Amino acid sequence: MNISILGAGYVGLVTGTCLANMNHDVICIDVNKKKVESINKGIAPIYEIGLSELLAKNKNRIIATTNPSNIKKTDITFICLGTPSKKNRNIDLSNIKQGAIDIGKIIKQKDWHVVIIKSTILPGTTKDFIIPILEKNSGKKAGRDFGVAMNPEFLKEGKAIQDFLNPDRIVIGTEDDKTKKILKKLYENFRCPKVFTGFSEAEMIKYASNAFLATKISFINEIGNFCKKLDIDTYKIADGMGYDKRIERAFLNSGIGWGGSCFPKDIKALITMANKYDEKLKILENVVKVNDLQPLKIVEILKKHFPSIKGKNIGVLGLSFKKDTDDIRESRAIPVIKKLLQEKAIIKVYDPKAMDNFKKIFPQINYSNINNILNSDAILILTDWDEFRKLNYKGKLIIDGRRLEEAKQGIYEGICW
Ligand code: UDX
Repeated sequence: MNISILGAGYVGLVTGTCLANMNHDVICIDVNKKKVESINKGIAPIYEIGLSELLAKNKNRIIATTNPSNIKKTDITFICLGTPSKKNRNIDLSNIKQGAIDIGKIIKQKDWHVVIIKSTILPGTTKDFIIPILEKNSGKKAGRDFGVAMNPEFLKEGKAIQDFLNPDRIVIGTEDDKTKKILKKLYENFRCPKVFTGFSEAEMIKYASNAFLATKISFINEIGNFCKKLDIDTYKIADGMGYDKRIERAFLNSGIGWGGSCFPKDIKALITMANKYDEKLKILENVVKVNDLQPLKIVEILKKHFPSIKGKNIGVLGLSFKKDTDDIRESRAIPVIKKLLQEKAIIKVYDPKAMDNFKKIFPQINYSNINNILNSDAILILTDWDEFRKLNYKGKLIIDGRRLEEAKQGIYEGICW
């Protein structure tokens, strides 16, 4: 099939590259010229495991451009544009709006086209926001003259290609049979369950899934904080719980909490939306509260070891919101560094991929090499990069937010174990 992808961020580029690898011809459209040039050279503009290799392999089936009129050369357009949070916790739909205008104008000149929305959008957005824009700009009717589907992504950063190629399920929200058939065909080689729903159900499945995963983490962190006081190993509790098929072990790793580009933004947007409908999402509000307090526990533990951390050399390992990504959005390292700065500690940090991004918000701290971090009064582990496992922690004071077994050779304390 001929496929265009609007937005070459990590969702768009991973989707486009994987579809090209499935022998589709793909055009990525993005406003960012640098990104476009990089993709056309076969180089991934973001750090994502395996992406550069797959992009280079499929170089002749994927091209990038800044010009949305290329949509007309294709049969299907995926909308993979960002939906960032606004200050008032609502989501910003301006990228989506522009994308839908561009697509609408092109649909006007075509017999049939399918628009597939992958961006994370609140329930009702496809029906009440995107379709009206497409219809207005094309003068055509959704479901009759062109197809629309809401097909949320469940890609974890760092494992996005693996997740795309081996999904647990594919959710397809569509309200006309022709589009349903096209999506069935597009995904026919995937051996996972396919869940067909309406638009709003597909949108809500994405939010509810992320909200539930974040709930699991905040839950185990709360249990972990309590277990620590009882001298109980939380990870054994998680293992013991995880064998129960109704619970599952995944996302029960306690630590400094969840961050990233999705969980924080999505959960806050869902809470804000529910409030407008006079529904309080009490569980989720507390899931966020637990997560806001969790990273600060690491500084509380530090203070048990030093009555004052003013002037102490504190080494920090890991700045990205999790390992295998350079993404620092809502990284739990941010509140930890803020607190350490407030307490006037001398801070040295190291991360294999995220230092450049971190420098943009914290230019005032020392960016160091990995070995230098070991020469600190205390070392905080905030991300579990594999290379941190190879360090010699003997004799060092370690406070671990990620459960790095190897660090236990040091004078070791876990955040909630
Ligand atoms: C998430 C969803 O998993 C994915 O399906 C969605 O499409 C996008 O959002 P991502 O943000 O890449 O993916 O990260 P994920 O691997 O889910 O981790 C989120 C946060 O939770 C990270 O900060 C991670 O360190 C933390 N986490 C995860 C834990 O603290 N404990 C766990 O057991 C799992």
